[in-house]
Amino acid sequence: MILIIDFGSQYNQLIARRVREYHIFCQIDPPHVDMDYIRNLKPKGIILSGGPSSIYEKNSPKCDKGIFDLGIPVLGICYGMQFMVDALGGKVSKSSKREYGYAELSIRTQEGLFEKVGAKTNSWMSHGDSITKLPHGFKITASTENTRIAATVHPKKNLYGLQFHPEVHHTPKGKTMLRNFLFNVCGCKRSWTMKTFAKDSITQIKETVGDKKVILGLSGGVDSSVAALLIHKAIGKNLTCIFVDNGLLRKDEAEKLKKTLRQHLEINIRFVNAKNKFLKALSNVTDPEQKRKIIGKIFMDVFEAEAKKIKDAEFLAQGTLYPDIIESQSAFGGPTSVIKSHHNVGGLPKNMKLKLVEPLKYLFKDEVRLLGKALDLDEDLVWRQPFPGPGLAIRIIGEITNRRLSILREVDDVLLEEIKNGGYYKKLWQSFAVLLPIKSVGVMGDKRTYENIVAIRAVTSKDAMTADWAKLPHRLLGKISNRIINEVSGVNRVVYDISSKPPSTIEWE
Ligand code: XMP
Repeated sequence: MILIIDFGSQYNQLIARRVREYHIFCQIDPPHVDMDYIRNLKPKGIILSGGPSSIYEKNSPKCDKGIFDLGIPVLGICYGMQFMVDALGGKVSKSSKREYGYAELSIRTQEGLFEKVGAKTNSWMSHGDSITKLPHGFKITASTENTRIAATVHPKKNLYGLQFHPEVHHTPKGKTMLRNFLFNVCGCKRSWTMKTFAKDSITQIKETVGDKKVILGLSGGVDSSVAALLIHKAIGKNLTCIFVDNGLLRKDEAEKLKKTLRQHLEINIRFVNAKNKFLKALSNVTDPEQKRKIIGKIFMDVFEAEAKKIKDAEFLAQGTLYPDIIESQSAFGGPTSVIKSHHNVGGLPKNMKLKLVEPLKYLFKDEVRLLGKALDLDEDLVWRQPFPGPGLAIRIIGEITNRRLSILREVDDVLLEEIKNGGYYKKLWQSFAVLLPIKSVGVMGDKRTYENIVAIRAVTSKDAMTADWAKLPHRLLGKISNRIINEVSGVNRVVYDISSKPPSTIEWE
């Protein structure tokens, strides 16, 4: 494995992604981890990430200098390189010229990280400080016009430094450099695949859980389904899943889910029909936060009441993913932002005294999909777009009634069919419809209509933290609009949402 020490770079997850793409396991840890912990991990190499600090700032993050004496190759990136140079007796100073953006790199020799990179290549810089003196034993391996020491190596100790960011796609040969580090310098092997992950993970779950019982909240999304499958393979009947139907799902969704889950996951599942409870509590509620709070609270009550029926349960399983873990442990990130925490409606009821099992906590979303495939999960579930816990309630702006739910369900159904037929479903992070609380005038068959407006939202995104509105072809948008207005009674106008996140959010409420 490769250990990545997180000095707070906005790119730290990207470094991890790159390493994983080469089928090598890696883990991101904060700088304060101790030497025994690192030795126990037995990493083949250590990567020190970049970060926003200046090495001379009072509270700049630092890790134990002992890592440079372990005999394990180290690659310092940007701040990581400056930390290494400073720790080993070199000098880092404020540059007269800040370097930000592209810089042409002149490479001295085609070896080490630069094997097969060429003499000149572009690099992506983002630094205010520069290295002015290298520690003993280091030599310069590449320079740019403004930065004489843009890359360095201590050949005997296998210590490497890059002032630029090889992990971003703006450094076109960055992947080659990382590959050289991983395979040539560290001697890693391509052993991290979802098949091996599944095998190891099943063994681990067996060890942790033993013959105790586990409860899991199944949402019908890919994360909780994959988690369920994995745990089921490990402990079989001792896993019980709870699926709460809140009446806010899409058309036929609860039925389809039941069928798929029963068919493909022969798992103990308790389906709880709580539709009326939710809809009653939501009647006349229009404020988005109030809607969310009501739904969250009822979910907890229903889930807990059902969970209590499962005698002797000791563990609660969750489909937590790696980005959440990284964010909450990052050197600068602090706990996950408030916006995200209220998203985990299916999360842990605080007063349930259950131990956590989180088998996906080292995976990124696309790896969870690959794992789902490796476990033969139904294609539909593997590629399912994220769907929020509060469901259609936060896509019906204003009051939620049965009539409005049914209009939105029909609209959403047409939309998804067209998005799928057009080949866009897997390319989009999400695509959905929103029912607005205003009406507009239209004309249908020579008759005046005064009906509802729906907005279509389609976004591309990597992690939902930022998102761009999708540039869907006009022809497809036209077809979607035509079909909705013709097929769904109660709608006479369709608009397309062209806002990105930030400053908008993906959901409207
Ligand atoms: P926003 O609207 O904040 O959404 O840009 C970001 C992502 O989170 C999803 N989302 C939720 N997921 N429970 C969830 O499980 C929620 O309460 C919730 N609210 C938003 C949203 O669909 C998008 O993918």
